[in-house]
Amino acid sequence: GFGLNAQELPKLEKKETYKVGFAQTESNNPWRIAQTNSMKAEAEKLGHQLVYTDAAGSAAKQVSDVNSMIAQGVDLIFLAPREEKPLIPAVMAAKKAGIPVILLDRSVDPSLAKAGEDYLTFIGSDFVEEGRRMAEWLIKNADGKTKIIQLEGTTGSSPANDRKKGFDEAIQAAGGFEIVASQSGDFARDKGRQVAEALLQAHPDANVIYAHNDEMAIGAISAVEAAGKVPGKDILILSIDGGKEAVQAVVDGKIAAVVECNPRFGPKAFETMMRYANGETIAPILVNEDKFYDASNAAAELANAY
Ligand code: AHR
Repeated sequence: GFGLNAQELPKLEKKETYKVGFAQTESNNPWRIAQTNSMKAEAEKLGHQLVYTDAAGSAAKQVSDVNSMIAQGVDLIFLAPREEKPLIPAVMAAKKAGIPVILLDRSVDPSLAKAGEDYLTFIGSDFVEEGRRMAEWLIKNADGKTKIIQLEGTTGSSPANDRKKGFDEAIQAAGGFEIVASQSGDFARDKGRQVAEALLQAHPDANVIYAHNDEMAIGAISAVEAAGKVPGKDILILSIDGGKEAVQAVVDGKIAAVVECNPRFGPKAFETMMRYANGETIAPILVNEDKFYDASNAAAELANAY
């Protein structure tokens, strides 16, 4: 038989169709739902059996979801790890069971698990670049608005860590800006609204809100209005994701700019799986392309937003 080498990635036997796991983190926003729909539609189109789980916002449940996929003998696991560290045991358990893992959209701590060794590859956006693009837009279009409140995503998740890093570095390098507060709104609309409300009270001079996703940006619109201020005029709101509701808010002038985070993973995910089964070498990171929306193109792009 095959000796199991600790350094080696599990292989994928060549078959017509597969039984594949997709371990989703939560389904509390349009981005997650668009991602899930894209995965389900592509699996159905290609005739693969998809074992789908929803961790409902719990990293512990997501670990047990992966363990149950292993017990069910899936051929490969697509994993969207909620946070960078707590999902390491799931990646390692799949490796030990001889099941290749492809990380989708979020990554795990690179010092604890490696692409091409512990998991096959990471497919998703460059979150550092998303944060940097948002900062670059602000640097060009601030028009005197320099006091920034940052609404961070889920603590310990790769998009929260990296969107902060890319943004903060570019803003610091530009000079003249100040991040007056930076706090997690857990990528959720109501949490984002509550945190924005509290931070606007603590920092009445703030005039920019940078939200790590649309849900928190939409929550921030309510918070700004509740504070008696006008979004887009008194306070610039910046977002990442690019769902229809946020792009419509750009058309309406309430959100100033959005960096897209492309949720359409299905075709690339299954194509990568088949390339691996065919013996191709897979790059450790496969980066998705993201668009950008502001007043110059939001109306024209609205129909294409997810
Ligand atoms: O990992 C991507 C992020 O997760 C999206 O920006 C957010 O909306 C989702 O929950």
